[in-house]
Amino acid sequence: MNFAERYGPWALVAGASEGLGAAFATELARRGLNLILIARRAEPLAAVAASLPTRTVTVVADLATDEGIATALGAGDGLEVGLVVANAAYSPIGAFLDLEPAQARRALRVNCAAPVELAHRYLPPMRTRGRGGLVVMSSLAGQQGSPPITVYAATKAFGAVLADGLWAELRPHGVHVVACVAGAVATPGLAGSKAKRAPGTLEPAQVVAAALRGLGRGPRVVPGATMRISSVLMSRLLPHRTAIAIISRASRDLAPPT
Ligand SMILES: NC(=O)c1ccc[n+]([C@@H]2O[C@H](COP(=O)([O-])OP(=O)(O)OC[C@H]3O[C@@H](n4cnc5c(N)ncnc54)[C@H](OP(=O)(O)O)[C@@H]3O)[C@@H](O)[C@H]2O)c1
Repeated sequence: MNFAERYGPWALVAGASEGLGAAFATELARRGLNLILIARRAEPLAAVAASLPTRTVTVVADLATDEGIATALGAGDGLEVGLVVANAAYSPIGAFLDLEPAQARRALRVNCAAPVELAHRYLPPMRTRGRGGLVVMSSLAGQQGSPPITVYAATKAFGAVLADGLWAELRPHGVHVVACVAGAVATPGLAGSKAKRAPGTLEPAQVVAAALRGLGRGPRVVPGATMRISSVLMSRLLPHRTAIAIISRASRDLAPPT
């Protein structure tokens, strides 16, 4: 089976209006898949859709709300969705105690609840068909506590562990699940922060290629050689408290977009 036969004919990308989500849409369309594109902002979503050579459905939905999740779950009705990319994310930045509890709740909904709901809705038909895939966007920030993005980092750990379990559960049924554990990626989300461009920062297309290559292999993929070395160093070689101190220093210039 080629890629479109294995993961098509439709793919759903949550968080598709810019950055990595738009790059996933571009690459998946290039491989012949039709796209369901989800995000909150209609205009950039429509621009992404207009740039794609295959069929598209755009869905404006806020995945932090029950209504938005219900819309995303209904978006695939009547379509054979063979691939889901859980990419949308919200990252409150600042000292945990200075943030509003509502910001943490929003991160939990967009980054944790939405991928779980999407998995529940779209994986069963894939299991029945004996083919399909799910990509969960995670982050190296989720390998240890990462102030001042403590809640975001914890949600990214959740995404990776969720993918681990689903990878093992669905592998015998021919459905491929992978967590893409990315380091810094040059997206508008990163550019909007005041963080300096870290060594090893990748372009979105490089991360997308690695994530899609990872389908059907192990439960996690870390794109980029520099980031793989960093991942091993931070998670296996250094004492955990040292890893937390390093990531805290590296993240201290992060600030919300102005
Ligand atoms: N960039 C990095 O350095 C990096 C590193 C590691 C991991 N990642 C992960 O990669 C993924 C994409 O990152 P990115 O940098 O491309 O992010 P981004 O530029 O901030 O884009 C996020 C996408 O999600 C959508 N989105 C955000 N909140 C949403 C909501 N409540 N409901 C629906 N859609 C929503 C946004 O569109 P709207 O604003 O139109 O809703 C946008 O299309 C995230 O999961 C992130 O954690 C990124």
